[in-house]
Amino acid sequence: MDFAALEATLLAEIETAENPRSVLKSPDIQRLYADIKDQPPENRAAFGQQVNQLKQVLEAAIARKEDAALQHTQVAIDTTAPMDINSPIPTLLSALQGSQHPLTQETETISDIWQRMGFTVEDSREIDDQYHMFETLNFPKGHPARDDYDTFMTVETDGDGDPFIAPAHTSTMQNRVLKKYRENLENGTAIAAIVPDRVFRNEDLDARHEHTFYQLEGVYVAKDVHAGMLIATLQKFLEEYYGKKLRVRVNPFYFPFTEPSFEFALSCPFCDGKSRDCKVCSGEGWIELLGCGMIHPNVLRAADIDPSEYTGFAFGCGIDRLVMMKYQIEDIRHLESAKLDFLRQF
Ligand code: FA5
Repeated sequence: MDFAALEATLLAEIETAENPRSVLKSPDIQRLYADIKDQPPENRAAFGQQVNQLKQVLEAAIARKEDAALQHTQVAIDTTAPMDINSPIPTLLSALQGSQHPLTQETETISDIWQRMGFTVEDSREIDDQYHMFETLNFPKGHPARDDYDTFMTVETDGDGDPFIAPAHTSTMQNRVLKKYRENLENGTAIAAIVPDRVFRNEDLDARHEHTFYQLEGVYVAKDVHAGMLIATLQKFLEEYYGKKLRVRVNPFYFPFTEPSFEFALSCPFCDGKSRDCKVCSGEGWIELLGCGMIHPNVLRAADIDPSEYTGFAFGCGIDRLVMMKYQIEDIRHLESAKLDFLRQF
């Protein structure tokens, strides 16, 4: 048996094989194993040793080939992965180099302002039922405005056979907040709460629209609340958040759960209405920031609050949009991009 020639042939096969390890099962190797027992007894040990040596050489070559296949192309870790995937033991970046995500930081700042204005902060949820998404918000079954909140649904269904829903807005929490704090009204104090959380929409993405973003819901109910209070409260919050006087625009709008309803916009901080080509405001000069209005009597009734005795306002504000305007971020998609060169600026 010419072991040297066989070794050269098999090493060449390892170089070209798609699966180099398969060479160890080649008929040539099988035959060698079978041949061991046919050797004269005095040669058997030496023959077996040569077979083993050949196998070791082949295994070393296979391991080198497999290692080479595992080498990743170099990635720019400064701007993408938080660890170096090329290092044999992944090393996490020092905690000193990490930071809170800007949306987390800003949600804390925003919540702090509302708490100083007397509002409590409530948690939302990331999966809800259609009762809270629609019914309690005065969208009866078949209401055309349900289509405006087209979102993602689960295959699983609730007791009524309806799929669960990834909330398209934080307004799904209104009924829970109203019920939780209803007693405040009986005790002569107001219901005043905010709910910041993540929401989901089936959306065409652009510089202002994400499929996953954050909203801040606000609810205030007491006796004799009117729309002037709503507008003054929002203006006060925005001036506190941006630390300056602002140009805001309030337009009539439609939401099934508020009447009257309004849309609040801020003048575009990128072009201040001076560029028709501005990608952020689409040349409109204004960026829509939030929807709001006086809580519809049916929404109060769904929480067992008498609308002839109490009135209130609610608003739903895009947190990503607030943050974009504060830091002049020209594209909302940077926020969820996980790019470290973007995140390290905060
Ligand atoms: C609502 O979601 C209503 N629930 C707001 C509301 C609450 C009205 C309470 C009345 C009373 P709208 O779909 O307009 O409304 O969204 C509110 C805000 O969320 C927008 O002004 C915007 O700032 C933000 N927003 C909406 N869609 C997106 C999106 N795709 N990407 C980023 N921000 C968005």
